[in-house]
Amino acid sequence: MADKDGLKVAKDYHVGEAFANQGDFQVKGANGLDWGMKHRLSKIFDPKTGKTVMFAFDHGYFMGSTAGLERLDLTVPKLMPYVDVLMCTRGALRTCIPASNRCGVALRTSSGSSMLDDDLSHEVVAVDIEDAIRLNVDCMAVQTFIGADGQLESLDNLSQVINAGMQYGIPTLGVVAVGKNMERTDKYFKLATRIVAEMGAQIVKTYNCEHFDEIVAACPVPIVVAGGKKLPEDEALTLAYDVIRQGAAGVDMGRNIFQSEHPVEMAQAVRKVVHEGFTDKEAYQFYQELIH
Ligand code: R5P
Repeated sequence: MADKDGLKVAKDYHVGEAFANQGDFQVKGANGLDWGMKHRLSKIFDPKTGKTVMFAFDHGYFMGSTAGLERLDLTVPKLMPYVDVLMCTRGALRTCIPASNRCGVALRTSSGSSMLDDDLSHEVVAVDIEDAIRLNVDCMAVQTFIGADGQLESLDNLSQVINAGMQYGIPTLGVVAVGKNMERTDKYFKLATRIVAEMGAQIVKTYNCEHFDEIVAACPVPIVVAGGKKLPEDEALTLAYDVIRQGAAGVDMGRNIFQSEHPVEMAQAVRKVVHEGFTDKEAYQFYQELIH
């Protein structure tokens, strides 16, 4: 392992310079992957835009019943026409989601903590690869806790899932978690996103922060951004616009869609930003027109 002393600060990100190994495939860092993996990635990242609107409703895996998600069977199907990917647990998928839909599926495969714990950073791999195959999922999501108590076990979980996914052509989505001791700074996210990508995850999920464009530039796989806590709709659209403008490959948004007073209209407005180049203001106007 390299000596930690005397490290130079990374600074040459070449922001704005295109990724050099893109080839002819729309997903960053995926040009050298096998056909099955690329096909699944194409269910996630639209071949026309290279981007994705993922709808996250996996919160129950540690939060239990959450405002806006009390009835998955009623809430989620209405949103499915407007999102590219459903990010959820296998319990939610099998019980509440009709299989007759064309959305991609990002399956939450790690778990082990609950809102009752002080330290949420301890998880295990909770889903066998055989069940992910049976559900025909398009990627498997694993939580990572870089810098937290559960760092080692979460990187072990990530490795196990990536190894299994490589065997069967299923991409892994490495989720960079934030916690009480993990600052939401570009320094932290540069460290964590790069570790997760270099471990072999084909997609990284993280949060917005300062110098987000540098985080994107330094990460050799696509970054999707979590929405985080509920914001007013115009601010959530600004968040989406800011990260897309700076190179995010999409959003993985939950509460800012399902806790909106108008979730279906909000999903459509987010879609305009991600896939159609709308600015935040244009998308908010579109949202306003839809709800009135
Ligand atoms: C991930 O860790 C969570 O379970 C959610 O998938 C994630 O936080 C995205 O949802 P939200 O936009 O509500 O933060």
